[in-house]
Amino acid sequence: MTRQQQYDVLVIGSGAAGLTLALHLAENLRVAVLSKGRLSEGSTFWAQGGVAAVLDDADTVDAHVQDTLIAGAGLCHEDAVRQIVGDSRDAIGWLVEQGVPFTRERREDGSETDDFHLTREGGHSHRRIIHAADATGAAIFNTLLLQAQAHSNIELLENRVAIDLITSAKLGQPGNHCLGAYILDRDTGHVDTFGARFTVLATGGASKVYLYTSNPDSASGDGIAMAWRAGCRVANMEFNQFHPTCLYHPRAKSFLITEALRGEGALLKLPDGSRFMPRFDERAELAPRDIVARAIDHEMKRLGLDCVYLDISHKPAAFIREHFPTVYERCLSFGIDITREPIPVVPAAHYTCGGVMVDKAGLTDVEGLYAIGETSFTGLHGANRMASNSLLECIVYGRAASRDILSKLPGSALPTDLPTWDESLVTDSDEDVIISHNWEELRRFMWDYVGIVRTTKRLQRAKHRVDMLLAEIHEFYSNYTVSRDLLELRNLALVADLIIRSAMQRQESRGLHYTLDYPQQLEQPLDTILQPPSAGD
Ligand code: FAD
Ligand code: SIN
Repeated sequence: MTRQQQYDVLVIGSGAAGLTLALHLAENLRVAVLSKGRLSEGSTFWAQGGVAAVLDDADTVDAHVQDTLIAGAGLCHEDAVRQIVGDSRDAIGWLVEQGVPFTRERREDGSETDDFHLTREGGHSHRRIIHAADATGAAIFNTLLLQAQAHSNIELLENRVAIDLITSAKLGQPGNHCLGAYILDRDTGHVDTFGARFTVLATGGASKVYLYTSNPDSASGDGIAMAWRAGCRVANMEFNQFHPTCLYHPRAKSFLITEALRGEGALLKLPDGSRFMPRFDERAELAPRDIVARAIDHEMKRLGLDCVYLDISHKPAAFIREHFPTVYERCLSFGIDITREPIPVVPAAHYTCGGVMVDKAGLTDVEGLYAIGETSFTGLHGANRMASNSLLECIVYGRAASRDILSKLPGSALPTDLPTWDESLVTDSDEDVIISHNWEELRRFMWDYVGIVRTTKRLQRAKHRVDMLLAEIHEFYSNYTVSRDLLELRNLALVADLIIRSAMQRQESRGLHYTLDYPQQLEQPLDTILQPPSAGD
């Protein structure tokens, strides 16, 4: 039996962005927070390095802003960067208040001081990354989850997959206002109708569109696809970030080797033990990520290598084990002792810099619909996100959106009589092989043709293939009962199309978009903005 549920605020996504927003609203409003699998399913839980913030007396907001603008290769929106960096100290203060156990500086005798230990990552001119050893995301997630679980106004719902947003335009009513969403309950198999005064997309990124990724399975771009279908513009989708160093091992699925290792002195090496980064950039291993990932890709192709190596073994073993316990243990489980030997690494898709266009409060083009965290495009990241700026953006925008929602509360109404999901025309599929085949095909051609180095011809090939897949998936979706795999495939194919179209529009090389056909930069940097055909399509 399908159900109708009503909440003041429907938050789709239980990562740093969604939980932050929920906690800021729960004093006043009834909030549902959904995750399509377990609550810890998103990228937040896996974040290693930390959160960038201006905390050191020798550091300044201006320096953090400048570093972000440089990494972003001319495309950051300086006003958004200033807003987010300017709020960074408060954001960390709030996390500390919630109880996040950030790592403290130690005295020589090993005892902790009151000061937080700050580390460095690529592109940062100062030590400004606050962290909980090398498992910062888990520390933040676990803390915020405990707080949310303790709040009677927050309902946390696992195994609920949002399929599509319900909007007034889709119902043929005037204007375009978000009224809620259709949600697949994976435990019952039914699609429920969730009505809400305000709906928030906090669904994370879309890096799963690539064959090799550091991201968990949830990163299938659902929020971006749902927003697009509801009539929202998206921007800068061509800028998907590749993290330079993921563990290269046949049994290691998606394990990241944090950039903080390089911040603490790890060196990138070829199999003969020689360094190569100084040949590519004077900042060497601490150059922004686009530059490091491209250099690794270049060396791997030039020398026909399966991987390169990241070496921190020259540091004292005790230092390595204390600062990087997660990386140390995980590598050891694969027989690699990082205190004694280099780590085999390759680049992998890591972060979606573009996304749903929002204003300073996270509000999208559709009334009552917000997008926060990795799913949104705020203007912070430009053509290349600087390390550890994303968790910061989640916390700052979680709060900004909550304030906007509270200010709009008096004029808002709980939607009633929303139509239920119509399943009368679909049947169960006995052709699930089509879904798994298309998943594989899509992610492989995105990796091969729309990856770190692009050409116009490769993009055209990718466009041709994605058009065929979109048609096939549409037919499948129209005839068969929905499942998580089918919904994710449908969203990934749409996001792939948005990425390819954006990449084809950008006839220059800038930040993460590098094409052999247009190696130069245009004088005037411009965002790539795509407009959906018409609201409600
Ligand atoms: P996520 O944490 O990804 O959460 C998404 C949520 O949405 C999940 O609950 C998921 O189940 C839910 N969801 C998605 N689709 C649906 C749907 N259709 N229906 C219902 N629920 C849905 N950034 C930093 O700043 N510092 C770091 O050190 C850092 N390290 C990283 C390390 C790794 C390995 C990875 C993968 C990322 C890292 N990042 C880091 C990036 C950062 O972790 C993410 O950008 C950030 O956590 C995103 O948070 P979010 O709340 O937007 O989404
Ligand atoms: C890392 O720890 O290297 C990831 C940091 C980030 O993605 O911001």
